[in-house]
Amino acid sequence: MMQLPLILVVDDDPTNFEVIETFLEDQDYRLYYVNSGEAAIATLDHFEPDLILLDVMMPGLDGIEACRRIKAIPVGATIPVIMVTALSEKRDFARCFSAGANDFISKPINSIELLSRVRSMLLLREQYKQLQVFNSRLEATVQARTAQLQTLSVKLLEAQETERRFLAHELHDEIGQALTAIKISLRRLERWVTSPQASEPLEDCLTLVDGTLQQVRNISLDLRPSMLDDLGLVPTLRWYINRHAKRTGLHETLTCEALLQRLPTVTETACFRIVQEALTNIARHAQAQVVSVTLMQANHTLHLTIQDDGIGFDQNSLSRAQGTSLGILGMEERGMLIGGQLSIVSAPGQGTRIALQVPLAAPV
Ligand SMILES: Nc1ncnc2c1ncn2[C@@H]1O[C@H](COP(=O)(O)OP(=O)(O)OP(=O)(O)O)[C@@H](O)[C@H]1O
Ligand SMILES: [Mg+2]
Repeated sequence: MMQLPLILVVDDDPTNFEVIETFLEDQDYRLYYVNSGEAAIATLDHFEPDLILLDVMMPGLDGIEACRRIKAIPVGATIPVIMVTALSEKRDFARCFSAGANDFISKPINSIELLSRVRSMLLLREQYKQLQVFNSRLEATVQARTAQLQTLSVKLLEAQETERRFLAHELHDEIGQALTAIKISLRRLERWVTSPQASEPLEDCLTLVDGTLQQVRNISLDLRPSMLDDLGLVPTLRWYINRHAKRTGLHETLTCEALLQRLPTVTETACFRIVQEALTNIARHAQAQVVSVTLMQANHTLHLTIQDDGIGFDQNSLSRAQGTSLGILGMEERGMLIGGQLSIVSAPGQGTRIALQVPLAAPV
């Protein structure tokens, strides 16, 4: 059932309330009276009026100060306040408005003026309430959509890892083995070839096969190193960081404790991918000399950090909105999907530090 609008009238003189009550008696409003600013503020603990008519000159807390305090309370900030005043100086009106008042009525009160100002403020209140309902519906929709998107993100990342695992496996086992078989056959052939015209292209073939084998192995490892599944995060990071250091010439270190237990696959994968993207960024953008990766476990939390001493960057100027830089966005997404928090601290000339914290379940 729709409740009638509730108007709180604050005046130290009850006769003023009676005047207001008489003027509004034909209207579908509920009136509630208190005789001081202090009482008006206390009232807001118990119920939420739709409008406050506030006398300015009152002993104790005057109307202007009461208005300021009402507007400072979250519930009060949204209730329209009409100041009822015998003051007529422009300066006084300015003080009322700067205390947060929405409107004012001069004393002695005129019934037509009272009615029209009350109506217009109640309309404002009604619109605010409708906006609130609309807002909470919107929030619920956004929450539901965000949850759907997260589920989709998880599924996408899972599908991507499964695909990468499959491709890495196929490349390594099928193509790699076929190339090895070709290499063995070429070696056997080599023994029978005596003419220099044939042995030169044969040598070329062997070099080509060796190069392709190496490439296939590298692509397979970059797609998904099988040791991540077989041996876990720490040995894989150690291997990956050494390999990256050799390729880039950077001084890269890994400091980590042996973890107490194998981590959930999704966590190991996310950590590995975050390190992979961070090191790729360092090689591409940072112009760094030294990179340190640390992995620690303390108080049921996994701490992963990747720090470089490179040129750093201004995080505010990242062009995420245009979707051109997906690496950092991907790291944040992966961190969030495993229930962790990823923070990036970087500034021009100050290097970059990426830190991930992931709560771990207590060992059983
Ligand atoms: N370690 C770093 N040192 C300096 N700048 C960095 C570093 N990491 C990221 N950046 C800056 O942040 C930007 C965004 O990085 P992000 O990984 O999101 O995108 P990207 O590397 O440009 O492209 P991609 O989507 O292929 O990863 C980079 O273009 C670079 O300017
Ligand atoms: Mg990147």
